[in-house]
Amino acid sequence: MILTIFLLVHAVLLYFIVTHRTRSKSEPPLDKGSIPWLGHALEFGRDASKFLNRMKQKHGDIFTVRAAGRYVTVLLDPHSGSSACGSHITRPSKKKAMTKKHFAGTNLAALDSTMSRHLEALLKADTPPNQTHWKDQGLFDFSYSVLFKAGYLTLFGEEQNNNRSDPTSVYEEFKKFDGLLSKLAKGTLKSEEKRTAHRVQQRLWELLAPAGLAEDSGSSPWLQGYRRLLQEEGVDEDTQRKALLMQLWATQGNVGPAAFWLLGFLLTNPEALMAVKSEFSRISEMETSETPLIDGPVNTPVFDSALEESLRLTAAPFITREVVQEKTLHMADGQEYLLRKGDRVCLFPFNSPQMDPEIHNEPQKYKYNRFLNEDGSTKRDFYKGGRKLKYYTMPWGAGTNGCVGKQFAINTIRKFVYLVLTNYDLELCDPSAQMPEVDASRYGFGMLQPEGDLLIRYKQRKTC
Ligand code: HEM
Repeated sequence: MILTIFLLVHAVLLYFIVTHRTRSKSEPPLDKGSIPWLGHALEFGRDASKFLNRMKQKHGDIFTVRAAGRYVTVLLDPHSGSSACGSHITRPSKKKAMTKKHFAGTNLAALDSTMSRHLEALLKADTPPNQTHWKDQGLFDFSYSVLFKAGYLTLFGEEQNNNRSDPTSVYEEFKKFDGLLSKLAKGTLKSEEKRTAHRVQQRLWELLAPAGLAEDSGSSPWLQGYRRLLQEEGVDEDTQRKALLMQLWATQGNVGPAAFWLLGFLLTNPEALMAVKSEFSRISEMETSETPLIDGPVNTPVFDSALEESLRLTAAPFITREVVQEKTLHMADGQEYLLRKGDRVCLFPFNSPQMDPEIHNEPQKYKYNRFLNEDGSTKRDFYKGGRKLKYYTMPWGAGTNGCVGKQFAINTIRKFVYLVLTNYDLELCDPSAQMPEVDASRYGFGMLQPEGDLLIRYKQRKTC
């Protein structure tokens, strides 16, 4: 009896500790959900976009929710987003500065050229020029595998390395890891999946172990610099391998899916496909030298708009920042809110600005020229509530922590789409096929992925 009472008292105390947080008047509305500790974690994890829309209806543009014991302040006002990326919210990092240097200027040009070489070689190996029959494949599978392998070879290592991990094996393991990633992050893996995730991570850590170690490893100067920094900081071997896997995901997890959505939208929108193809053919007709114009700083406003529009519809990262010291957040409407040290601030630009009907007319529709002015120049003027927006789409994040690889990713996708549309006959297996639905469990994890795939067939054109 005494034991029962003792346990009961402890349970009540524990419940109180984990649920006790009250809102002060200066803080955003607080919604803890009805489940102790877990709070809104389940609904958040199932379909974050839907959940955050529901919370917005209830509380407005800013609110704090509890999810798995953590308090997250969500900010959905696109006019106020940039104030959440300031210096009280994030820490500067040496690695970030080093990475930035490697993905800019002449270093970027060198990476672009290595990437081009790998893309051309992988595509040629996939369909030899004398092959006359069509090859059938899922577009997601095709885009992800080619871009992953080319990106892996460019950044993590290539020829002359005896320890080299073959990109196909790394890709096979990576796909399994990527498939379990959202459940892994949410802590909702079933026991069999837990075992698989453990096995796959171990395997990837082994495969990545030599990357960036020796100068002749074929790894990019960026990866060598990254590895050197980890060593200088005294990071142990095990943690280094784990960090490499995170870098593999950051650098390779989004480009393939982004290229898939773009090619998919083009193939299912003939007018868009024609517009991009004619911009590309004008460029290929101007080709005079050995170095293809598309590898240089050539102007491609139609392609840029088609890609921006595709990313608007399918890039859905959480932009999260840790509150490193107490901070007052100034909203664009003049309201002020206090943010607590140790909490997290989260922006979800997918819901707004990207899918906001007040900013983008018919937001569910793919309009390849949404980001073009009538004179063909890039359109940058978008408004909400009569005020011009600084961020009208945010696939790359924002502020000091924004995507470091943005330009490299754009150049890579442009080269890939150019090669595929210029050198290949590519079509849908079913001409009336529609784009697949998105996998709603991946909201928050960067580029969305499809439920299923879009079947295509392709063969190399005789002329190349
Ligand atoms: C379509 C492709 C890509 C998309 C949509 C994308 C998007 C993003 C986003 C949203 C972030 C977080 C930004 C923030 O918190 O504000 C990020 C971070 C980052 N991205 Fe990208 N990215 C892409 C491709 C790449 C590529 C190709 C590279 C490098 C080769 C790269 C390197 C990074 C790195 C190093 C970070 C920072 C990770 C960290 O320090 O936490 N990304 N990216």
